[in-house]
Amino acid sequence: MEYTSLGGTGIRVSRIGLGTWQFSDDWGVTSYDRAKAIVGAALEAGINLFDTALRYGGGLSERFLGRALKELGAREDDIVVVTKIPGEMLSYDDVFKAVDVSLRRLGLTSIPVLLAHWPPLWRHIPTCEYARAFERLVTLGKVEYIGLSDHPIELVEAFRNCLSRIEVDVLQYKLNLAEREAERELLPYAEGLGATFLAWSPLAKGALAKTIPPEKLGELRDYRRVDPLHHPVNYPQLQKLYEEVARIAERRGKTPAQVALNWLLQLSDIVIPIPGATSPEQVRENADATGWRLTWEEWRLLDEASRRVKLTYVTQSE
Ligand SMILES: NC(=O)c1ccc[n+]([C@@H]2O[C@H](COP(=O)([O-])OP(=O)(O)OC[C@H]3O[C@@H](n4cnc5c(N)ncnc54)[C@H](OP(=O)(O)O)[C@@H]3O)[C@@H](O)[C@H]2O)c1
Repeated sequence: MEYTSLGGTGIRVSRIGLGTWQFSDDWGVTSYDRAKAIVGAALEAGINLFDTALRYGGGLSERFLGRALKELGAREDDIVVVTKIPGEMLSYDDVFKAVDVSLRRLGLTSIPVLLAHWPPLWRHIPTCEYARAFERLVTLGKVEYIGLSDHPIELVEAFRNCLSRIEVDVLQYKLNLAEREAERELLPYAEGLGATFLAWSPLAKGALAKTIPPEKLGELRDYRRVDPLHHPVNYPQLQKLYEEVARIAERRGKTPAQVALNWLLQLSDIVIPIPGATSPEQVRENADATGWRLTWEEWRLLDEASRRVKLTYVTQSE
């Protein structure tokens, strides 16, 4: 495993994290034993950064993660858990309540990294209100570091302007070979800020790690049945890109998932992909995306192939 610093904190984190939205009905890891095996494989592989959220699985993800880390003997000082508060729960009082819930579910004395999951969309909550609540929680020692997920730069700036003594150390956005919008302004912004960039859906919800026969798309029972990437209007392009990834993987003796993640690792040294996994084998495989490099030619080939992907998020027909 390779390690880097978390934002400006000096805390050592693995270059690959583990996403745990999979511990939910959305993805199907609803057995605690399976979740524990996944977390165990991550720890064994040297992963010390875990991403969860108040919302995932109605609390199952935080509960499974916290219990597994404890039972597996992970020391609070050695691991970094990132959890997130939904946009609708960002009023000053709700932030405190949400943190209480997360602390209990995770079984931690403080939350290593707290993020606002997305901006308040259906309520009007001034940005400074949650920025001040986050800062107060750091002062009180209940949260160590803070950041934002899925916030446009204008809101990140507004949030930072409300902070008196601390800085945003973590930003989290969708980024993978097929969905590269965050590269336009969010990634350069995070680089300028010196924040860590957590890349969610780094495997395009699995589409860069394996291919599904088009006639089987309709049989998907997990979150992918409503995912625009796995919709027939987009999926053929994903398959083409996957084939390119798989060709390079075969030549290098790696797996497609490892190649897709390594491409992201080389894109910028602040990027930490947080792939989700439904088995310990997947975690081990993803951890081995570190410790080697795609060649310049391979990286460029994928760069060009991915630029040919033109997705639409309009998946309705008349
Ligand atoms: N901030 C946000 O708004 C936000 C949004 C989405 C996700 N996230 C976070 O980001 C994490 C990852 O994103 P994601 O779950 O959307 O997508 P992802 O990591 O791109 O894809 C995860 C899926 O890929 C498949 N997979 C993983 N490793 C594999 C391997 N080595 N070989 C074959 N297949 C593999 C698994 O699918 P199978 O089920 O087929 O095994 C897994 O469920 C989440 O767990 C969550 O923590 C954050």
